[in-house]
Formats: sequence, C-alpha cells, structure tokens
Amino acid sequence: MENPPRPTTPQPLHGMFTAVPPRYDFVNRIITLGLDKRWRSLAARTCLEDNPETVLDLGCGTGDLTVNIACLARKNTEITGLDFSQPMLEIAEQKAAKAGVFKSVRFIQGNATALPFSDAYFDCVGISFAFRNLTYKNPLAQAHFAEVTRVLKPGGRYVIVESSQPENPVIRALFNLYVRVFVAPVGILVSRNRGAYRYLAESITRFYTPWEVRDMLKAAGFRDVSYRPLLFGATGIHVAFK
Ligand SMILES: C[S@@+](CC[C@H](N)C(=O)[O-])C[C@H]1O[C@@H](n2cnc3c(N)ncnc32)[C@H](O)[C@@H]1O
Repeated sequence: MENPPRPTTPQPLHGMFTAVPPRYDFVNRIITLGLDKRWRSLAARTCLEDNPETVLDLGCGTGDLTVNIACLARKNTEITGLDFSQPMLEIAEQKAAKAGVFKSVRFIQGNATALPFSDAYFDCVGISFAFRNLTYKNPLAQAHFAEVTRVLKPGGRYVIVESSQPENPVIRALFNLYVRVFVAPVGILVSRNRGAYRYLAESITRFYTPWEVRDMLKAAGFRDVSYRPLLFGATGIHVAFK
C-alpha cells in the first residue's frame, strides 16, 4: 500500500511551512475567530459520508483535520496524514496522542506531487486549507491533481475546505479588507514571520472563485463537483469524485 518515497523537484513553500509551526494553530484561531475548527469538523464529516475504509489528509499540517476524522470515523478506518513539513507533523503526532486516536492514524512526511502510496488506495482524500498552497501560482499544481486522482479509488471523493471568494461584491470587498488589515498584521505580529503571512494575505485575496476551482477539478478529470459556501462564501467546501 505504501510505496517508497519518490524523488521530487524542489517544492514551493517548503521553507515557509518549516518555519511557521510553533504559533501556526494559535494564529489560525485568532484570524478565523475560532471558526476554522467548525469548518474542519464539517469537512471531516463530509470525508466520512460514504463510510470510507481509507482516508488521506493531504497537507495535514498540525493534524487538525486528521484528528477530527479519526474522532468521528468508524473503528478500523485507516487514516493517514501527509505533509512535507516535519515540524508540522511533530505537532500533529502530539495532537493525535492527546486526543487518544494515535493508534488509528499515521503521519507520513511526503510530497503532494509524488505521493508514496499505490494506485487507487484511498476511498477519500481530504485537504484543509492546503489546496490554495498547491494550486495558487504553484507550477506543480497539475502534478498534485494527477497524484490525487492516481491514489483515489474509482468513485473516491476529494473533499476540499478552503478560503474562497464571496460572490457578493460588497462582502468580497469587506472580506479582502479584513484579510489585509487584520489577518496579515496579526499573523505577522504573533508568528513574527512576515513572509508567510504576506503570502497568506496575497493568496487569499487573489485566490480562485468557486467556479474556477470547479473548472480546475473538472479539467483534472473529476466529476460531480459540488460546492458549499461557508461564512458568506469567505470559505467553502468543494467535493469532487474520481
Ligand atoms: C495552510 S497549511 C494547512 C495545514 C492543515 N491542513 C490545516 O488545516 O491547518 C498548508 C499545509 O500544506 C503543506 N504543504 C504545502 N505544500 C505541500 C506539498 N507540496 N506537499 C506536502 N505538503 C504540503 C504545508 O507544509 C502545510 O502544513
């Protein structure tokens, strides 16, 4: 089921995500006013809708979605969190141990563009707030799509919870203002990582609309693509099937 790691080209953002972990969770809670927990929990439930036997949390970071899935899943569900940042994975492991789900999850260091799993292994791939990193101005975006489709079983689902663009132009303008005057400065102040939170603000405010994401998923070969907006469309959950 697990293939040896494959050689990869240098990965965009790797340095940034190796540096942010110590205050990553804390900053998330502040900038989303605690709503990120609820959004991941909704995504976890969406991942589990067809009672999958195997689930991958892609770009699992500090493991919030992985642990959420593990807490809600049926016994014997095999849950894997994968990330290329070792410091993120170390926090994820501690979190899983604290939540008492350490035995049902495993964390693997690896690249989204060269996944160390055999073809058609997973019933579901979930991704929380890492889809933007893998697609926005990322030259390896297509490699990521190819890998997700490769490791999903036919009929398997890809669940994406990600920031989005509110449809209403007034709400969109207010949201973008919030990101620029609150999210970026608070992120920089708390994490002391200017580059990471500048990137966050830029990528959120310029990220694709839900329709563009739908078209990307369809072009990558997914079918039955749907979208559920959350918080007036500032965030949303996309679901697509292989
Ligand atoms: C914004 S964080 C989201 C983390 C977590 N899923 C969450 O909900 O908080 C994005 C994560 O994706 C990971 N990541 C970005 N590009 C990656 C890649 N090419 N391969 C593996 N992980 C990647 C980063 O290391 C980081 O942990």
